[in-house]
Amino acid sequence: MTFPERRPRRLRRTAAIRRLVAETRLSVDDLVAPLFVREGISEPQPIASLPGVVQHSRASLRAEVAALKGLGIPAVVLFGVPERKDAVGSEAWNPDGVVQVALRDLRDDVGDEMVLIADLCVDEYTDHGHCGVVTSDGTVDNDATLDLYRQAAVAQADAGADVCAPSGMMDGQVAAIRASLDGTGHEEVAILAYSAKYASALYGPFREAVDVEIADGGDRRSYQQDPPNAREALMEIHSDIAEGADMVMVKPALAYLDVVARARKEVDVPLAAYHVSGEYAMVEAAAANGWIDGDAVGMEHLLAIRRAGADFILTYLARRAAQALDSAGA
Ligand code: PBG
Repeated sequence: MTFPERRPRRLRRTAAIRRLVAETRLSVDDLVAPLFVREGISEPQPIASLPGVVQHSRASLRAEVAALKGLGIPAVVLFGVPERKDAVGSEAWNPDGVVQVALRDLRDDVGDEMVLIADLCVDEYTDHGHCGVVTSDGTVDNDATLDLYRQAAVAQADAGADVCAPSGMMDGQVAAIRASLDGTGHEEVAILAYSAKYASALYGPFREAVDVEIADGGDRRSYQQDPPNAREALMEIHSDIAEGADMVMVKPALAYLDVVARARKEVDVPLAAYHVSGEYAMVEAAAANGWIDGDAVGMEHLLAIRRAGADFILTYLARRAAQALDSAGA
Protein backbone atom coordinates (compact mmCIF):
# COMPACT_ATOMS: atom_id res chain seq x y z
CA MET A 1 0.00 0.00 0.00
CA THR A 2 1.31 3.44 -0.83
CA PHE A 3 0.75 6.35 1.48
CA PRO A 4 -0.80 9.48 0.11
CA GLU A 5 1.80 12.04 -0.71
CA ARG A 6 2.46 14.60 1.98
CA ARG A 7 2.35 18.06 0.57
CA PRO A 8 3.44 20.69 3.11
CA ARG A 9 2.37 23.43 0.77
CA ARG A 10 -1.30 22.61 1.48
CA LEU A 11 -0.83 24.28 4.83
CA ARG A 12 0.76 27.38 3.35
CA ARG A 13 -1.93 28.15 0.78
CA THR A 14 -3.87 30.92 2.48
CA ALA A 15 -3.13 33.46 5.17
CA ALA A 16 -5.88 31.91 7.30
CA ILE A 17 -4.37 28.41 7.11
CA ARG A 18 -0.93 29.78 7.89
CA ARG A 19 -2.38 31.58 10.86
CA LEU A 20 -4.07 28.40 12.08
CA VAL A 21 -0.91 26.31 11.97
CA ALA A 22 1.58 28.91 13.16
CA GLU A 23 3.79 27.30 15.81
CA THR A 24 5.01 30.55 17.28
CA ARG A 25 3.09 33.69 18.04
CA LEU A 26 4.25 37.15 18.88
CA SER A 27 1.93 39.11 21.08
CA VAL A 28 2.03 42.49 22.71
CA ASP A 29 2.28 40.57 25.99
CA ASP A 30 5.80 39.49 25.01
CA LEU A 31 7.21 43.00 24.66
CA VAL A 32 9.22 45.03 27.16
CA ALA A 33 10.19 48.58 26.18
CA PRO A 34 13.62 49.85 27.28
CA LEU A 35 13.42 53.55 28.14
CA PHE A 36 16.08 56.15 28.94
CA VAL A 37 15.44 58.99 31.36
CA ARG A 38 17.92 61.82 31.64
CA GLU A 39 18.22 64.14 34.58
CA GLY A 40 17.99 67.90 34.11
CA ILE A 41 16.43 68.14 30.66
CA SER A 42 13.05 69.60 29.81
CA GLU A 43 12.74 68.26 26.26
CA PRO A 44 13.45 64.72 25.05
CA GLN A 45 16.81 64.40 23.30
CA PRO A 46 17.23 62.28 20.18
CA ILE A 47 19.92 59.57 20.12
CA ALA A 48 21.66 59.68 16.74
CA SER A 49 22.53 55.99 16.58
CA LEU A 50 19.07 54.91 17.79
CA PRO A 51 16.64 56.68 15.48
CA GLY A 52 13.18 56.82 17.01
CA VAL A 53 14.51 56.33 20.56
CA VAL A 54 15.12 59.30 22.86
CA GLN A 55 16.54 60.27 26.20
CA HIS A 56 13.36 61.19 28.02
CA SER A 57 12.75 64.07 30.32
CA ARG A 58 10.85 63.31 33.49
CA ALA A 59 7.62 64.49 31.85
CA SER A 60 8.12 62.88 28.45
CA LEU A 61 8.86 59.55 30.13
CA ARG A 62 5.49 59.65 31.84
CA ALA A 63 3.76 60.43 28.56
CA GLU A 64 5.60 57.62 26.77
CA VAL A 65 4.74 55.06 29.42
CA ALA A 66 1.09 56.12 29.29
CA ALA A 67 1.16 55.56 25.52
CA LEU A 68 2.81 52.15 25.91
CA LYS A 69 0.20 51.19 28.48
CA GLY A 70 -2.50 52.24 26.03
CA LEU A 71 -0.98 49.87 23.49
CA GLY A 72 -1.11 47.03 26.00
CA ILE A 73 2.62 46.69 26.56
CA PRO A 74 2.98 45.00 29.94
CA ALA A 75 6.40 46.22 31.07
CA VAL A 76 9.16 48.78 30.71
CA VAL A 77 12.81 48.66 31.76
CA LEU A 78 14.37 51.92 32.88
CA PHE A 79 17.90 53.24 32.38
CA GLY A 80 19.05 56.51 33.93
CA VAL A 81 21.36 59.21 32.65
CA PRO A 82 22.45 61.23 35.69
CA GLU A 83 23.79 64.78 35.77
CA ARG A 84 26.61 63.78 38.11
CA LYS A 85 28.87 60.77 37.72
CA ASP A 86 31.50 59.68 40.23
CA ALA A 87 33.94 56.82 40.84
CA VAL A 88 31.39 54.47 42.41
CA GLY A 89 28.20 55.59 40.68
CA SER A 90 26.45 56.81 43.81
CA GLU A 91 23.51 58.28 41.90
CA ALA A 92 22.46 54.67 41.34
CA TRP A 93 21.26 54.48 44.94
CA ASN A 94 20.48 58.10 45.68
CA PRO A 95 16.78 58.12 46.64
CA ASP A 96 16.49 61.28 44.54
CA GLY A 97 18.51 59.82 41.67
CA VAL A 98 17.03 60.01 38.20
CA VAL A 99 15.69 56.46 38.00
CA GLN A 100 14.31 56.46 41.54
CA VAL A 101 12.40 59.69 40.81
CA ALA A 102 11.11 58.19 37.57
CA LEU A 103 10.02 54.99 39.31
CA ARG A 104 7.97 56.98 41.83
CA ASP A 105 6.34 59.00 39.04
CA LEU A 106 5.47 55.91 37.05
CA ARG A 107 4.25 53.95 40.05
CA ASP A 108 1.84 56.82 40.74
CA ASP A 109 0.75 56.93 37.11
CA VAL A 110 0.23 53.26 36.32
CA GLY A 111 -0.35 51.62 39.69
CA ASP A 112 -0.04 47.88 39.30
CA GLU A 113 -1.17 47.91 35.68
CA MET A 114 2.36 47.81 34.32
CA VAL A 115 5.51 46.07 35.42
CA LEU A 116 8.31 48.50 36.24
CA ILE A 117 11.72 46.91 35.76
CA ALA A 118 14.83 48.78 36.88
CA ASP A 119 18.11 47.93 35.18
CA LEU A 120 20.55 47.54 38.04
CA CYS A 121 24.11 48.50 37.24
CA VAL A 122 26.44 51.39 37.86
CA ASP A 123 28.00 52.02 34.45
CA GLU A 124 25.61 54.85 33.64
CA TYR A 125 26.61 56.47 36.92
CA THR A 126 30.39 56.00 37.08
CA ASP A 127 32.82 58.52 35.62
CA HIS A 128 34.98 55.69 34.21
CA GLY A 129 32.04 53.86 32.61
CA HIS A 130 32.72 50.46 34.17
CA CYS A 131 29.98 48.38 35.77
CA GLY A 132 31.68 48.38 39.17
CA VAL A 133 34.45 49.55 41.43
CA VAL A 134 37.74 49.99 39.58
CA THR A 135 40.87 49.24 41.60
CA SER A 136 44.22 51.00 41.26
CA ASP A 137 45.44 48.35 38.82
CA GLY A 138 42.43 48.98 36.58
CA THR A 139 40.50 45.79 37.29
CA VAL A 140 36.88 45.72 38.42
CA ASP A 141 36.57 44.51 42.02
CA ASN A 142 33.78 41.95 42.12
CA ASP A 143 32.92 41.92 45.80
CA ALA A 144 33.29 45.65 46.39
CA THR A 145 30.87 46.10 43.50
CA LEU A 146 28.30 43.81 45.12
CA ASP A 147 28.06 46.30 47.98
CA LEU A 148 27.04 48.98 45.50
CA TYR A 149 24.47 46.73 43.85
CA ARG A 150 22.92 45.92 47.22
CA GLN A 151 22.33 49.60 47.85
CA ALA A 152 20.96 50.22 44.36
CA ALA A 153 18.49 47.36 44.72
CA VAL A 154 17.08 48.79 47.93
CA ALA A 155 16.80 52.28 46.42
CA GLN A 156 14.98 50.90 43.39
CA ALA A 157 12.63 48.80 45.49
CA ASP A 158 11.92 51.71 47.84
CA ALA A 159 11.03 53.79 44.79
CA GLY A 160 8.52 51.22 43.57
CA ALA A 161 10.31 48.85 41.20
CA ASP A 162 8.52 45.54 40.68
CA VAL A 163 11.65 43.93 39.30
CA CYS A 164 15.37 44.59 39.69
CA ALA A 165 17.42 43.53 36.69
CA PRO A 166 21.12 43.25 37.53
CA SER A 167 23.13 43.68 34.32
CA GLY A 168 26.68 44.03 35.57
CA MET A 169 27.77 40.36 35.35
CA MET A 170 29.48 40.34 38.75
CA ASP A 171 29.71 36.88 40.29
CA GLY A 172 27.19 36.47 43.09
CA GLN A 173 25.17 39.55 42.17
CA VAL A 174 21.81 37.80 42.32
CA ALA A 175 22.40 36.38 45.80
CA ALA A 176 23.66 39.74 47.02
CA ILE A 177 20.65 41.62 45.70
CA ARG A 178 18.19 39.00 46.94
CA ALA A 179 19.64 39.25 50.43
CA SER A 180 19.50 43.04 50.50
CA LEU A 181 15.93 43.10 49.21
CA ASP A 182 14.79 40.49 51.72
CA GLY A 183 16.64 42.22 54.52
CA THR A 184 14.78 45.46 53.86
CA GLY A 185 11.27 44.08 53.61
CA HIS A 186 11.22 43.85 49.83
CA GLU A 187 10.62 40.11 49.57
CA GLU A 188 8.01 40.75 46.88
CA VAL A 189 10.44 42.44 44.46
CA ALA A 190 11.48 40.02 41.73
CA ILE A 191 14.86 39.61 40.07
CA LEU A 192 15.32 39.39 36.32
CA ALA A 193 18.96 38.38 35.98
CA TYR A 194 20.95 39.32 32.92
CA SER A 195 22.51 35.89 33.34
CA ALA A 196 24.16 35.29 30.00
CA LYS A 197 25.24 38.74 28.96
CA TYR A 198 27.97 38.68 26.38
CA ALA A 199 30.80 41.17 25.85
CA SER A 200 29.23 42.19 22.56
CA ALA A 201 30.05 44.90 20.05
CA LEU A 202 26.31 45.38 19.62
CA TYR A 203 25.96 47.70 22.63
CA GLY A 204 27.52 50.72 20.87
CA PRO A 205 24.36 52.78 20.36
CA PHE A 206 23.25 52.11 23.95
CA ARG A 207 26.43 53.70 25.22
CA GLU A 208 25.56 56.82 23.26
CA ALA A 209 22.08 56.68 24.78
CA VAL A 210 23.44 56.69 28.33
CA ASP A 211 26.50 58.89 27.69
CA VAL A 212 28.93 56.14 28.66
CA GLU A 213 32.47 55.94 27.42
CA ILE A 214 34.68 53.35 29.06
CA ALA A 215 37.84 55.01 30.34
CA ASP A 216 41.20 54.42 28.60
CA GLY A 217 39.63 52.58 25.69
CA GLY A 218 38.65 49.80 28.07
CA ASP A 219 36.09 47.08 27.58
CA ARG A 220 34.00 44.70 29.64
CA ARG A 221 35.63 41.43 28.63
CA SER A 222 36.81 40.66 32.14
CA TYR A 223 33.24 40.49 33.43
CA GLN A 224 30.81 39.96 30.55
CA GLN A 225 30.75 36.60 28.84
CA ASP A 226 33.06 35.62 26.03
CA PRO A 227 31.15 35.11 22.76
CA PRO A 228 32.61 31.65 21.99
CA ASN A 229 31.05 30.13 25.10
CA ALA A 230 27.58 28.62 25.26
CA ARG A 231 27.99 25.91 27.91
CA GLU A 232 29.31 28.57 30.22
CA ALA A 233 26.11 30.57 29.64
CA LEU A 234 24.09 27.63 30.90
CA MET A 235 26.21 27.50 34.03
CA GLU A 236 25.65 31.22 34.58
CA ILE A 237 21.91 30.71 34.16
CA HIS A 238 21.77 27.74 36.54
CA SER A 239 23.80 29.53 39.17
CA ASP A 240 21.63 32.66 38.95
CA ILE A 241 18.53 30.53 39.47
CA ALA A 242 20.18 28.84 42.43
CA GLU A 243 20.98 32.30 43.83
CA GLY A 244 17.32 33.27 43.60
CA ALA A 245 16.74 34.73 40.14
CA ASP A 246 13.02 34.65 39.31
CA MET A 247 13.65 35.18 35.61
CA VAL A 248 16.77 34.95 33.47
CA MET A 249 17.96 36.65 30.32
CA VAL A 250 20.21 36.08 27.34
CA LYS A 251 21.72 39.15 25.70
CA PRO A 252 22.15 40.08 22.85
CA ALA A 253 19.47 38.03 21.14
CA LEU A 254 20.00 37.16 17.49
CA ALA A 255 23.65 36.18 17.55
CA TYR A 256 22.92 34.04 20.63
CA LEU A 257 19.70 32.25 19.69
CA ASP A 258 21.47 28.95 20.21
CA VAL A 259 21.94 29.97 23.83
CA VAL A 260 18.28 30.97 24.09
CA ALA A 261 17.22 27.60 22.69
CA ARG A 262 19.51 25.67 25.01
CA ALA A 263 18.38 27.66 28.01
CA ARG A 264 14.75 27.05 27.10
CA LYS A 265 15.37 23.29 27.11
CA GLU A 266 17.10 23.33 30.46
CA VAL A 267 15.22 25.77 32.65
CA ASP A 268 11.61 26.40 33.50
CA VAL A 269 11.78 29.92 34.86
CA PRO A 270 10.63 32.71 32.52
CA LEU A 271 13.29 33.35 29.92
CA ALA A 272 13.93 36.77 28.40
CA ALA A 273 16.11 37.89 25.52
CA TYR A 274 17.34 41.42 24.86
CA HIS A 275 17.24 42.59 21.25
CA VAL A 276 19.91 45.18 21.91
CA SER A 277 20.69 48.62 20.59
CA GLY A 278 23.03 47.45 17.83
CA GLU A 279 20.48 44.94 16.58
CA TYR A 280 17.87 47.67 16.38
CA ALA A 281 20.30 50.15 14.81
CA MET A 282 21.28 47.73 12.04
CA VAL A 283 17.65 47.29 11.05
CA GLU A 284 17.01 51.03 11.15
CA ALA A 285 20.12 51.89 9.16
CA ALA A 286 19.44 49.37 6.42
CA ALA A 287 15.81 50.45 6.27
CA ALA A 288 16.79 54.12 6.04
CA ASN A 289 18.89 53.22 3.01
CA GLY A 290 15.92 51.53 1.42
CA TRP A 291 17.77 48.21 1.48
CA ILE A 292 15.31 46.28 3.61
CA ASP A 293 11.74 46.67 4.82
CA GLY A 294 12.57 47.61 8.40
CA ASP A 295 9.18 46.84 9.90
CA ALA A 296 9.06 43.40 8.30
CA VAL A 297 12.62 42.55 9.32
CA GLY A 298 11.95 43.81 12.83
CA MET A 299 8.95 41.53 13.20
CA GLU A 300 10.96 38.63 11.78
CA HIS A 301 13.65 39.25 14.40
CA LEU A 302 11.14 39.27 17.24
CA LEU A 303 9.41 36.14 15.98
CA ALA A 304 12.76 34.35 15.69
CA ILE A 305 13.58 35.20 19.29
CA ARG A 306 10.24 33.77 20.39
CA ARG A 307 10.74 30.69 18.21
CA ALA A 308 14.09 30.05 19.87
CA GLY A 309 12.23 29.90 23.15
CA ALA A 310 12.21 33.30 24.81
CA ASP A 311 9.06 34.15 26.74
CA PHE A 312 9.52 37.88 26.41
CA ILE A 313 11.77 40.33 24.62
CA LEU A 314 13.33 43.60 25.68
CA THR A 315 13.26 45.59 22.47
CA TYR A 316 13.43 49.14 21.16
CA LEU A 317 10.88 47.92 18.60
CA ALA A 318 8.26 47.41 21.33
CA ARG A 319 6.10 50.39 20.53
CA ARG A 320 6.10 49.92 16.75
CA ALA A 321 5.61 46.16 17.05
CA ALA A 322 2.66 46.69 19.39
CA GLN A 323 1.12 49.11 16.90
CA ALA A 324 1.65 46.65 14.05
CA LEU A 325 0.16 43.76 16.05
CA ASP A 326 -2.76 45.96 17.01
CA SER A 327 -3.56 46.87 13.41
CA ALA A 328 -3.18 43.22 12.36
CA GLY A 329 -5.80 42.33 14.96
CA ALA A 330 -3.36 40.06 16.80
C1 PBG B 1 24.85 47.86 31.37
C2 PBG B 1 23.96 47.62 30.20
C3 PBG B 1 24.31 47.70 28.86
C4 PBG B 1 23.17 47.39 28.14
C5 PBG B 1 22.15 47.16 29.04
N1 PBG B 1 22.67 47.29 30.32
C6 PBG B 1 25.56 48.12 28.22
C7 PBG B 1 26.83 47.42 28.43
O1 PBG B 1 26.90 46.35 29.00
O2 PBG B 1 27.81 48.01 27.99
C8 PBG B 1 23.10 47.34 26.64
C9 PBG B 1 21.74 47.40 26.03
C10 PBG B 1 21.71 47.65 24.57
O3 PBG B 1 22.73 47.67 23.86
O4 PBG B 1 20.60 47.86 24.07
N2 PBG B 1 24.21 48.63 32.35
